[in-house]
Amino acid sequence: MKKIAILGSTGSVGRNTLQVIKELDNYEVFAIYGGSNISLLVKQAEEFNPLYVGTFFPENKKRLDDTVNDRWKTLLGVEGASELATNDEVDAIVIATAGSMTYDPLIEAMESGKRVATANKETIVAYAHLLKKKLPNMKGELIPVDSEHSAIYQSLLGRDRSQIKRIILPASGGPFYNRKSFEGITPKEALNHPTWKMGKKITIDSATLMNKALEVIEASVLFDLSPGEIEVVIHPESIVHGMVEFKDGSIISQLSMPDMRLPIQFALTAPDHSVSPAPRLSISDVKSLTFYKIDEERFPLIPLSYHVLKESGTLPAVFVSADEVAVNAFLSGKIEFKRIIEIVIEVTKSHEVIKDPDKEDIVKAEQWAYLKANELIK
Ligand SMILES: NC(=O)c1ccc[n+]([C@@H]2O[C@H](COP(=O)([O-])OP(=O)(O)OC[C@H]3O[C@@H](n4cnc5c(N)ncnc54)[C@H](OP(=O)(O)O)[C@@H]3O)[C@@H](O)[C@H]2O)c1
Repeated sequence: MKKIAILGSTGSVGRNTLQVIKELDNYEVFAIYGGSNISLLVKQAEEFNPLYVGTFFPENKKRLDDTVNDRWKTLLGVEGASELATNDEVDAIVIATAGSMTYDPLIEAMESGKRVATANKETIVAYAHLLKKKLPNMKGELIPVDSEHSAIYQSLLGRDRSQIKRIILPASGGPFYNRKSFEGITPKEALNHPTWKMGKKITIDSATLMNKALEVIEASVLFDLSPGEIEVVIHPESIVHGMVEFKDGSIISQLSMPDMRLPIQFALTAPDHSVSPAPRLSISDVKSLTFYKIDEERFPLIPLSYHVLKESGTLPAVFVSADEVAVNAFLSGKIEFKRIIEIVIEVTKSHEVIKDPDKEDIVKAEQWAYLKANELIK
């Protein structure tokens, strides 16, 4: 039996991960970890009977302990997640949390030689500088869950990194790609993604194309690519999830229906493909697959991501943190949709980059961006 620990089990990717494990033979849930949704966490524990149940937030620990009432062992915070990352019984850890709190568990799991299936991109981006240095020397396997990066990972299997010319990341374009103006957009409209069902933050990020901007940096870390080796295209159908162009001009890609259960499952079973309950793609029903160049003037976070990647150091952490603040402000009605983009640009452009930061510098840069973005919102 493969034992899986899931950080962020109460979120969209976390809930899908539990569904996937339920359908897979020889996989069981060893631990689940959430944030504030304690009632769902306990419901999940009742269904999957893990050994450990944890929350990232100290203010929820008492409520968790009282509800759990000694039925399962409880854990708290990043330290508790780190205990799972180094627990010899755990075969793989799924990182499906929001935010950038999971750097330590990620590194510890990689150092312990585990499989790390990561959906969380904020941590990968914020700590890009450190991860690029550390990952090549680590024992563990870092397998992407993000559908685009999963597609690229699959297209690269068995092939040498030196044969890559570039990778191509498709973006659906979100709900507003063809909308003339960004004036008056409500959170409800922005949360209505045309092809994917996801958590709120990533859905808003898909509407501003910040999600794709983060994915550019994520891809650079995961596949050791320079900015010039990454291209983004609009692909409204969300059927082709990622492409790799090789030196001879061949392009290899992965196609499927847009359903996160597929990349989640592959991250657990890779390099094997197992039967999945996700809907299958009927290729003869696909009437057209379209690809367009990005309109970088209307979606300036894409060119900004290349600048952030080139500068690197503390800048990716600032990029992530400013966006988190701005998205929350939009969702709580404090700012207009287009201000999200403006705030990310303003905060990112006003940061004095530390080129070779340590972990503490990155945490401080995130805090600086948090305060700066909040100032702009006031
Ligand atoms: N959703 C998708 O289909 C999808 C696809 C590709 C990549 N991703 C990436 O996967 C990650 C999770 O996305 P999601 O859509 O599943 O998010 P989500 O639905 O908002 O779930 C987030 C999970 O993280 C917990 N959480 C909230 N704030 C946290 C914090 N500050 N630190 C640690 N954990 C926290 C939540 O707990 P509570 O709910 O209990 O508070 C929940 O379990 C993101 O990085 C996203 O970009 C998601």
